[in-house]
Amino acid sequence: MRNLDQNTITEAVLARHVNTLNPRLKQIMTSLVKHLHDFARDVELTEGEWFQGVEFLTRCGHITDDKRQEFVLLSDVLGLSMLTVAMNNDKPNGCTEATVFGPFHVEGAPHYELGADISNGARGIPCLVRGTVRGVNGEPVANAMLDVWQSDEDGLYDVQHADIDHAQGRGILHTDNEGRYWFKSILAVPYAIPHDGPVGKMLDATGRHPWRPAHLHFMIKASGYETLTTHVFRSDDQYLDSDAVFGVRESLIAAWKPQSDGSYLVGYDFVLNPAPVKE
Ligand code: BEZ
Ligand code: FE
Repeated sequence: MRNLDQNTITEAVLARHVNTLNPRLKQIMTSLVKHLHDFARDVELTEGEWFQGVEFLTRCGHITDDKRQEFVLLSDVLGLSMLTVAMNNDKPNGCTEATVFGPFHVEGAPHYELGADISNGARGIPCLVRGTVRGVNGEPVANAMLDVWQSDEDGLYDVQHADIDHAQGRGILHTDNEGRYWFKSILAVPYAIPHDGPVGKMLDATGRHPWRPAHLHFMIKASGYETLTTHVFRSDDQYLDSDAVFGVRESLIAAWKPQSDGSYLVGYDFVLNPAPVKE
């Protein structure tokens, strides 16, 4: 296997993978090599350009730590996260749609009683959030676990504040016997995804903005149902049609209603898909 050229090298690399024991890994590696090579041929990639690409990925690695995940951001802004969500969450009509998980979920958020204020000191306009969790046949889902997280009025999550070391704007609640939930928090606002690193530079260079429309994050788990990871988006947001990470779905948009005391109220009813029956 010598004197490989641009027409023969792909087959040679693929042949080097024939001993891959795991068939799924073999399928993924084969397709990855084919598409990477085709991409390089398609754009007639120069050595200098590929060097820049490697430098970009290196910068993504250097800025990544346990609080900042530049590779997740990269996947998000390239639409790869949302593509994967869309391909893996094909639910029956009537079920609440899934959307991107994002990098700001934290395991082990504080538990709250229904009605509690999960802002826990995060700055923002007070807001009551309420609704139900039901199955696709309309049955209320009691004791469903809602893991909720959101940014503050500056568009920052608690983990993005260097001077905040406790949970703010996030919490875990459980539905009552009739599948109802309600909690206090703060008004969701649009925010820019972290754009002070290589992904931000890439957005700039491609004439893109880093904004996400205002939203609340929910991850809902209940026995006998598929876990749902989703958002509820604010209907009056200017970025609904240009979300930097392509996560908006019409069915996830709700109206935040101003109340006479200056606070807001939003309602959203979730519908869960039954878990697949185990054979
Ligand atoms: C978020 O909604 O928290 C998010 C999603 C993708 C990238 C950055 C942030
Ligand atoms: Fe978010």
